[in-house]
Amino acid sequence: MLKGLILGILLGILLVAGGVYYYFSSGRAPVATSAPPIPFEESLARLGLHAYLDKLPHPEPQVPADEANLVSGAKVYKEQCATCHGLPNEPKTAVAQGMFPAPPQLFHGVGVTDDDAWESYWKVENGIRMSGMPGFKGQLTETQIWQVSVLVKNADKIAESVKKELAAGATTPMEMAMPSGNPAPKKK
Ligand code: HEC
Repeated sequence: MLKGLILGILLGILLVAGGVYYYFSSGRAPVATSAPPIPFEESLARLGLHAYLDKLPHPEPQVPADEANLVSGAKVYKEQCATCHGLPNEPKTAVAQGMFPAPPQLFHGVGVTDDDAWESYWKVENGIRMSGMPGFKGQLTETQIWQVSVLVKNADKIAESVKKELAAGATTPMEMAMPSGNPAPKKK
């Protein structure tokens, strides 16, 4: 009786593992960004991220959400984030339209105004694996990450000065790929 049960469980595990392997090895799993998600792909990814974030400390923003910090955050945003996350009153970029998962448009609708700033801080610093959201640790200072985090937290109530900064000289994907401090190597 017990032997049969154990055998049954083992067989069941083997069948599931075999099925998953077959799904991927036979080319049935979606690989294009335009393909529909794997069943439960999005909900499982979200579950894993939230369970992880819940275990972290939840620090208060290390910069106040005043005009100076929001304007500095806007500078960072238009250089590093706008290509994917969009600008106020601008349509989605080609990059944003071609991505899976889609980058949420942070100046349209609620964006992440309903998330605490520390949560966005963590995501900007560390990135979100297998999503296209880069981690900026070492590329932006902690202060810059807080500034851009309080900016997206307050995206629904920014002042004219901040809107102006966002609109001034919005970057293109090409400029993003080749930041001015890092010119392309010259051909010999
Ligand atoms: C190359 C594209 C890309 C760039 C550049 C990028 N992101 Fe993202 N970001 C994404 C994608 C895609 C997601 C969605 C991830 C997901 O659904 O799991 C995301 C998610 C996020 C989230 C979480 C949104 C939510 O609803 O929980 C925040 C906050 C965020 N990004 C902020 C930023 C900031 C700030 C910058 C600039 C410093 C930035 N991102 C740069 C692609 C990008």
